[in-house]
Amino acid sequence: MNVLNKKTVEDLDVAGKRVLVRCDFNVKMEGGVITSDKRIVASLPTIEYLIKNNARVILCSHLGRPKGAFDPEFSMAPVAARLSELLGKEVKMAKDVVGESASALAASLKDGEVMLLENVRFEPGETKNDEELSKKFAALAELYVNDAFGSAHRAHSSTAGVAAYLPSACGYLIRKELDFMGNALENPKRPFVAILGGAKVSDKIGVITNLMEKVDTLIVGGGMAYTFFAALGDTVGTSLCETERIEDAKNMMEEAKKKGVNFLIPIDNKVGLAYAADTEAKIVDSDNIPDGWMGLDIGPKTQKLFADAIKGAGTVIWNGPMGVSEWDNFAAGTIAVATAVADSGAISIVGGGDSAAAVKKLGFEKKMSHISTGGGASLEFLEGKELPGIAAINDK
Ligand code: 3PG
Repeated sequence: MNVLNKKTVEDLDVAGKRVLVRCDFNVKMEGGVITSDKRIVASLPTIEYLIKNNARVILCSHLGRPKGAFDPEFSMAPVAARLSELLGKEVKMAKDVVGESASALAASLKDGEVMLLENVRFEPGETKNDEELSKKFAALAELYVNDAFGSAHRAHSSTAGVAAYLPSACGYLIRKELDFMGNALENPKRPFVAILGGAKVSDKIGVITNLMEKVDTLIVGGGMAYTFFAALGDTVGTSLCETERIEDAKNMMEEAKKKGVNFLIPIDNKVGLAYAADTEAKIVDSDNIPDGWMGLDIGPKTQKLFADAIKGAGTVIWNGPMGVSEWDNFAAGTIAVATAVADSGAISIVGGGDSAAAVKKLGFEKKMSHISTGGGASLEFLEGKELPGIAAINDK
């Protein structure tokens, strides 16, 4: 699959047509209030293009993980309200997904009008990629546009199945994500540096394996680094360590050596006595983590080591925090990496909720070339996997 060869919204003749647009409006909510509208904002270019070009716009998305039936907690109504504010025009809210309300509203849409279906996961067939449901989605419209990058790794009815029954294209957001990440992987400006963090090696093995073929430097920090220490024969105290992955960690380090990839892991760490924000903490070298202490962040020598490697990069991909970044006491490593990436002048691509949150907290969003709207989707893309939501789109 050549992802850069997929049709885009501009390849469709949308005027006067009902266009079903799958967005990823899976926004953060607290007590019915949207706490981050980043994903809604990211979908605006496609929606605004369709309005300007006189399409009849039928939007849909999932929100959270309801259990295949209507649940007011997961209603899309707050999204319709926020979207309406952002677009400066009414967004009509259907009472169901593919039922009478949705069909009637879709049939009554005029050119340039916008409506939103209820949460697609209220339909039990959605996550099973049910054929009948896919046909019902298709019956609402004449064209299908997928712009839900964050859900492109899901083979569901509204993200993939429906594309079999309508002419299809991807929207501007998917295009932008593919352009940045696809170009970084296929044609990176060198040196190409990847920084991977987060808790588990098992979540990132696929990414490390795929990136190993492409990068000049691979940096591993965060909770998953301790499994690499164990692979080197170091004791890790009570740090997170996946014993069943120690062999994999060993193999990855050997592979890096063979391929001439500069493979960096922390040389010192901030360790704590307990997994708690206010626990007693100290700095120790990686080969000297005492019994009863757990690694919760990278140390100052490592911050410098990583920052120096990032400084001369042409392309940087960063996914995952260097420590427990939500606790101030263990956030310094993640802040140091965010600062180094922001100051590098490299093409910089940030993925994953915690890294993106750190970038936002520091006010570095404008300094990054691209902050992916996809968590799982961006990881699977970096693993080199085919994303069903993109594979289903018509080629040019
Ligand atoms: C996400 O938030 O990563 C996407 O919206 C996908 O959500 P899901 O993991 O519930 O499919």
